[in-house]
Amino acid sequence: MPDRNISRRAFLGTSAIGATAAGAAAAQQSEPPRATSANGRVTVGMIATGARAHELLEAIKRVEGTEIVAVCDAYKGRQERAVARTAGRARVAADYREILADKSIDTVTVASPDHWHRTHVVEALRAGKDVYCEKPLTYTVEEGNEVIETARRTGRLVQVGSQGMSSQIQHRARDIIRSGRLGQVTMIRAFYNRNTASGAWIYPIPPDASPQTVNWDMFLGSAPKRAFELARFFRWRCYKDYSGGISTDLFVHLCTTIHFLMGAKMPSQVVALGQLYRWKESRDVPDTINAILEYPEGFTVNLSSTFNNQMSAEGGFQILGTQGSMTLGGGSLTVFAETAVEDNRWIVESWPKALEEAYWRDPKVLESERPATRPPRVVESVQTHRETGLEATVLHFQNFFQSVRTRQPTVQDALTGHRAAACAHLINRAAETKKMVAWDFSREAIKA
Ligand SMILES: NC(=O)c1ccc[n+]([C@@H]2O[C@H](COP(=O)([O-])OP(=O)(O)OC[C@H]3O[C@@H](n4cnc5c(N)ncnc54)[C@H](O)[C@@H]3O)[C@@H](O)[C@H]2O)c1
Repeated sequence: MPDRNISRRAFLGTSAIGATAAGAAAAQQSEPPRATSANGRVTVGMIATGARAHELLEAIKRVEGTEIVAVCDAYKGRQERAVARTAGRARVAADYREILADKSIDTVTVASPDHWHRTHVVEALRAGKDVYCEKPLTYTVEEGNEVIETARRTGRLVQVGSQGMSSQIQHRARDIIRSGRLGQVTMIRAFYNRNTASGAWIYPIPPDASPQTVNWDMFLGSAPKRAFELARFFRWRCYKDYSGGISTDLFVHLCTTIHFLMGAKMPSQVVALGQLYRWKESRDVPDTINAILEYPEGFTVNLSSTFNNQMSAEGGFQILGTQGSMTLGGGSLTVFAETAVEDNRWIVESWPKALEEAYWRDPKVLESERPATRPPRVVESVQTHRETGLEATVLHFQNFFQSVRTRQPTVQDALTGHRAAACAHLINRAAETKKMVAWDFSREAIKA
């Protein structure tokens, strides 16, 4: 169970047209929309069919007019299970290149470990496929601009897989913020808390896993060469060679949502600390991270994650405004009105008596501050909205396939995905160097 539940239902919606999408639209003017397969279906090849991809597969099956025709994976058991989930209709491809070479395949999903995303996405775009890539879009910040540029040049679509952004609850949250009901939002707290081995990515390893069923070299790719090791293969999030840990796995969802809700691009600067307190034998990434992100749009974000306690909900947001607050998570949102009142009694009661009495006689002192005469006020304090119906991943795929058919921009394009992942990379850089790290908006890169 990776970033389940919360990321599925509770988090994330739709983005502004980014550079990639605009490029795709421009490219379409000189090039007719790519044909879907002969029977009018959009065909899908799945690059990597691990735990998340099986959820993607089930979601794709629920979108009409789509057909999964090929799958590939570095572990035989998952490949076979994926074929079984398509009732034997999908064929097994030896590797991702075979899927890319197949002209009958319109789109691909990329759900490989993070260090493979750039290669799988860029090569798929060059092969003329539209791509649904799981978050994080990138493993290093530099990869983002390459993906954006390739999508622009090829006119192909990229949709990144922080599915919460397609959920209606996040759209409602954005509407409420835009309506001004929360007043000026200056602070957002968002968190992921877990306290299980599985939550800390120590997943069970299938008993048939061995060099005969696991393609170790296919997994390693450009990562440093190492001897065969099942823990690294099945728990790759725990290792820097393949993952950015909490930041790229979990914070990336939070940042996607925050950018969507607030119409924000990127933080201008970031500070962070990361520690490995508990799960020391199983990883080289932190199990605890606290980060502060300052946005030029006029608000600050506090991101926090621990794998050592789950007293509060697994994940969520507190969006704090001068007129109200909103909590978001678990498929629902709640708005709380601010009910704070001025109260200077304890200050003026320490003044000389005459000055205190003069203070209360002053007409400029608010009526609400005079305890004796404070008029009663009824405030609508708590209002909860809950989402029901289709799960966010299904909605996210509906959006993706709609874009594939209409050639309209995707809801979470390469630029959006790059920025959310870049926040994670900024946090990791800040935590590693113990220095404040800044964003260069003109280059979409970390400031040198
Ligand atoms: N959006 C979400 O809520 C969500 C949830 C979980 C995971 N994810 C993302 O999905 C991706 C996959 O995560 P997962 O939990 O499924 O991991 P996983 O380890 O279960 O799956 C990864 C799969 O990739 C295969 N693989 C490795 N290298 C490959 C290669 N070169 N070619 C083909 N297959 C290869 C492995 O055999 C494995 O089956 C990650 O990027 C992760 O961040 C997203």
